[in-house]
Amino acid sequence: MKFDRKNHWAKVYNEKSPKSVSWYQDQPNLSLELILSTKVASDEAIIDVGGGASILVDNLIKGYFTNLAVLDISKKALSITKKRLGDSAKNIDWFESDITKFDSPKQYALWHDRALFHFLTDTFDRKNYIKVLNNALKTEGHLIIATFDMGGPERCSGLKIVHYNSEKMIAELGDNFKLIKERTEKHITPAKQTQNFKFFHFLKI
Ligand SMILES: C[S@@+](CC[C@H](N)C(=O)[O-])C[C@H]1O[C@@H](n2cnc3c(N)ncnc32)[C@H](O)[C@@H]1O
Repeated sequence: MKFDRKNHWAKVYNEKSPKSVSWYQDQPNLSLELILSTKVASDEAIIDVGGGASILVDNLIKGYFTNLAVLDISKKALSITKKRLGDSAKNIDWFESDITKFDSPKQYALWHDRALFHFLTDTFDRKNYIKVLNNALKTEGHLIIATFDMGGPERCSGLKIVHYNSEKMIAELGDNFKLIKERTEKHITPAKQTQNFKFFHFLKI
């Protein structure tokens, strides 16, 4: 039977609490540090793709960013985040979409992805993600993308993933992206497992 991505993620967020999933962070410190280091202005457009129930968007609101969007394939994940934000949710653009099929209504100054891209094990899906990224990110826009590092876990949420180092990520993204910096992070899951992540900051040229 063909894998149904939307069903998989619907089941995950319907059956598990947001704080129990392996990717849960009580503070997305490295994401925030990298976003702030880009010096994007507070009114520039920022999108968190595969944002899930992450509190990154809460932190960006607290940091006075006013032009925010969150995209996820899971309606439940988005509704958890919207509920948590209350009234502030009204000022955010919400997209329930598979990123490989997303038709962005506008261009962003910053695209953040923690642990979505590495699920794309199919070349065709990765090509489509990068096509969407190229259309949706403006020239001189920032890409902050985090995946499992080489030698990191083989699976996430029961699904096979692809590991990246900078060479692999550069080859995947193509000529429009210049690597600015990379960082490693040891993420400790709620079950106290260590997961090695790689964070990359690219500039679209
Ligand atoms: C491992 S979680 C990471 C969530 C969040 N970025 C974080 O750091 O807490 C991956 C997220 O990507 C979403 N996702 C997976 N594949 C997707 C796709 N093709 N398009 C959009 N969202 C997707 C899932 O629903 C899930 O919320």
